[in-house]
Amino acid sequence: MERRKKPKEQSMLETFQQQQYETWRDEKLANYRSKPESLFIEINNPLQLSSAEKKAIADNCRSNNLSFIKVKPNDDTRGSIHSINAQLGLVDFDQHLCVEDDGLVVIEDTNTPKKVGYVPYSNKALNWHTDGYYNPMNALVGAFSLYCIESASKGGNNHWIDPEMLYIHFRERNPDIICALSQPAALTIPERREDDKIVREASIGPVFFIDKASQKPKMRFTQRKRNIHWLDSGEISDALCALNDFLDSDTEIHHMYKLAAGEGLVCNNVLHNRSAFIDSNQQKRKLLRGRYKNSVSCN
Ligand SMILES: [Fe+2]
Repeated sequence: MERRKKPKEQSMLETFQQQQYETWRDEKLANYRSKPESLFIEINNPLQLSSAEKKAIADNCRSNNLSFIKVKPNDDTRGSIHSINAQLGLVDFDQHLCVEDDGLVVIEDTNTPKKVGYVPYSNKALNWHTDGYYNPMNALVGAFSLYCIESASKGGNNHWIDPEMLYIHFRERNPDIICALSQPAALTIPERREDDKIVREASIGPVFFIDKASQKPKMRFTQRKRNIHWLDSGEISDALCALNDFLDSDTEIHHMYKLAAGEGLVCNNVLHNRSAFIDSNQQKRKLLRGRYKNSVSCN
């Protein structure tokens, strides 16, 4: 006899009904590639991707929500990355504090006044998060790109997990976790004020949600502990514990890669972290990052 569903579980199933979920899940698991090495695409001319290159990147983003790229060094790196992203449909960039006119920002350990005090622009580790988790729900980051101009002499590795695989992991084993973290006000990032002026509104939303356009599960998450508010409920704290335990473990859906100079990635805002790094006089970690509202076009 079918188990009677709890009210919250029922509401979660309404947004992604079991039959629809199972069809999507089976296709996802059939196409997902477990070896990240197979996700590298060499780009011949960044200013004009061939249709095969474009298709290969889109296929990787469809199966794994991430594609690696290799771009031969040239004298206009920023222009090359901007062009590649635009050809993938990534033009509507996130207007964050440090972004430049081309939608890109240099990620490095720096004392530049605008960037000082922000962990991404230091050599410290970054905990698990999706980019732009503090944006309002109607302006979340759908995709981001990283391109390595120079890698750190030590550390600076990225770990990532495809959020769709994480969703499947928990929905198969314990849907209560998905239910708890799908609550519309599960996670609040309070507003940010500067000199008594609000410079960013509070961001209130779920961790797991079904994206209306793609009808796929997406995530909005950070492991940050300060200046963050989780809905006060036993279900949410249990779910959060389970999620953090999982993230801190090592499973076949956890992946790690250290980008080398000339290598980059484009992804549909996968869950990721970064290990701390050390620069040397000869080798200073320098990456270019882009953040966009839409996802990599998979058509
Ligand atoms: Fe990030």
